[in-house]
Amino acid sequence: MKNRLFSVLLLISTILLSVTVMAESESEQDSVKRGEYIFALGGCASCHTNTEGDGKPLAGGLKMETPFGVFYTPNISSDSKLGIGSWSEQDFIKAMRKGISPEGDHYYPAFPYTSYAKMTDQDLLDLKAFLDVQPAVSELSKEHELSFPFNQRSLMAIWKWLNFDNSEFKSNPKKSTSWNRGAYIVNGPSHCVECHTPRNLMGGLDTDEGLAGNEDGPDGEAVPALIASNNKEFGDWDVSDIIFSLEVGMKPDGDFLGGSMGHVIENTTSRLSEEDLKAIAEYLKSPEG
Ligand code: HEC
Ligand code: HEC
Repeated sequence: MKNRLFSVLLLISTILLSVTVMAESESEQDSVKRGEYIFALGGCASCHTNTEGDGKPLAGGLKMETPFGVFYTPNISSDSKLGIGSWSEQDFIKAMRKGISPEGDHYYPAFPYTSYAKMTDQDLLDLKAFLDVQPAVSELSKEHELSFPFNQRSLMAIWKWLNFDNSEFKSNPKKSTSWNRGAYIVNGPSHCVECHTPRNLMGGLDTDEGLAGNEDGPDGEAVPALIASNNKEFGDWDVSDIIFSLEVGMKPDGDFLGGSMGHVIENTTSRLSEEDLKAIAEYLKSPEG
């Protein structure tokens, strides 16, 4: 009798345990799935996968020429030594939101943490869950080639103090949920402002001139304004024109969008839901709060 009671109890606890484990791994899978979308939203592949150089996914090595010198994007694959596989969740959040490495060094803003700082905890944790299950690539990150004084990472502390607003994203209660979602995407994960907003002499974003265009964008190419007062052509686009251009990369006049915007379309906007594209378009039609 006692024996039978024992086996029944054992059976019940085994069932309970496996239900919990299943639920846990299901929520982990949900997180990875959401993270895959955040990965597209953040355009990480545009910089950390050197597609043109036949680089392996997330192994970095993309050369970025800037007025301050040459940067090479690092390996952010799940390799525990040469990538970021050994990072804790807190390490990752600190890097993305504060621009500080696990060793306490400052990152250069060629890594657009200046926008990622606006990302929510949930989005960052999901993104990490996705990165954690991507293949490890054991390739050493290349050293940047920066001239003095820009090769002094410690100077970035001053740069950040002058140019980095790490406040969290605040939604505007006077606007719709969709407009606020668009504001979050453009200023946060999708970092559209990093290219479409002019920069000051120190390379910081001139936030008073949000989305007013940048004559000297990445690789020296001009980036058009996304506000009607500075770009009449764009001002005439309606919401469906904007959505179509972001989805397909073609403007209403039939011209294709290229240069660095081509990578944004390939890795980010062509992968977004219709709802998010609509949110972006709605925000761009009236970005003032
Ligand atoms: C515009 C190019 C660009 C984009 C887009 C970009 N990064 Fe980076 N990232 C860099 C550069 C450049 C560095 C190196 C910064 C430095 O050395 O100070 C870097 C560094 C990092 C680091 C620190 C790695 C280390 O070894 O310390 C992490 C983590 C990281 N990026 C994650 C991401 C994630 C996740 C995304 C997408 C949400 C992303 N990056 C998008 C350019 C980019
Ligand atoms: C890496 C830099 C970069 C980022 C990030 C970026 N853009 Fe662009 N964008 C460009 C460049 C360069 C062009 C001009 C491309 C061309 O004319 O071929 C452009 C053009 C555009 C245009 C067409 C405007 C016109 O008048 O022709 C739209 C719309 C646009 N971007 C929206 C966005 C949105 C929305 C985001 C964020 C999801 C974004 N961009 C992020 C560089 C960027």
